[in-house]
Amino acid sequence: MAKISIDSGVADFECTDGDTILRAALRSGHGMPYSCNVGSCGNCKFVLVDGEVGHLRSDAPAWSERDMKRKKWLGCQARPKGDCTIKFRADPEYLPPHQPIRRRARLTQSQSITHDIREFRFEADGPDDFRPGQYALLEIPGVEGARAYSMCNLPGEGHWSFQIKKVPGGAATEALFDLEPGSEIGFDGPYSTAYLREDIPRDIILMAGGSGLSPMVSIARGIEAAGLLEDRKVHFFYGCRSKEDLIALAELPTPLSDKITFYAALSENAEAGHRQGFLHDVAANEFGEHLKDHEIYFAGPAVMAAAVQKTAYDLGVPMSQLHFDEFY
Ligand code: FES
Repeated sequence: MAKISIDSGVADFECTDGDTILRAALRSGHGMPYSCNVGSCGNCKFVLVDGEVGHLRSDAPAWSERDMKRKKWLGCQARPKGDCTIKFRADPEYLPPHQPIRRRARLTQSQSITHDIREFRFEADGPDDFRPGQYALLEIPGVEGARAYSMCNLPGEGHWSFQIKKVPGGAATEALFDLEPGSEIGFDGPYSTAYLREDIPRDIILMAGGSGLSPMVSIARGIEAAGLLEDRKVHFFYGCRSKEDLIALAELPTPLSDKITFYAALSENAEAGHRQGFLHDVAANEFGEHLKDHEIYFAGPAVMAAAVQKTAYDLGVPMSQLHFDEFY
């Protein structure tokens, strides 16, 4: 256990063995900025004023030699080697709506959704409190480091479910797809600020590409559960390569409301009843300058996320109306 002092004594918190400074700060109610939790975005950088830390990943993409010289470290990767003093700019936006908890989880079932996406259901002791759109960090046996996956279900259902796309050659998803029911994993969450904001009265656009399906399904279900479909239109865009990747919202293990308008964007070949093109282009064609009248949630591969942001920017959507996790 290490004591972490913020800004020369403004506040302090404890970091238990094996925990990172970011996660310990969030658990203790400090709004340390972050997004990915896996070393990619750089939002969690802090200055080490005193003490010593080590990084989980020496090759974290968001950390450089220059950072090291300036005593800047990544909160999501830094483990203290004793008591430390750190400096960062806290922001209440990052205060977790539900305290993240480290625990064990057990796989209870899994089922196929498409040829390469499966829905995995885990059960864990303690509360299943989270917001639709949030993710948890899974430590899979035999895989180095934790991986972030977003839930597809709703809080209060007694389980944590994830729709996960198998990545060819990807150590984590290959191990996950081989897990037998009853297997245990390490589990930590919930995290993310890209969750459903029920109080914003705009119509809603959800955009999912490949592995980004899971959080958008959770948000769609959250919208329905909160009664928002009574006075808001919801448009769900799903981008994939070809018809073999298609999903049907009505055929998901827990079907989505038919009040949600679904658009499939096929990037490789046209199929009757579906749009052809990339997700961001299909959404831009559908809404044009009216894109900015919507609250937009999206998740998917890095290229898709970058294209969605550029399209939104070009069409005048304020950044505050975009909700996404920066996993790249
Ligand atoms: Fe730490 Fe993204 S690099 S939260």
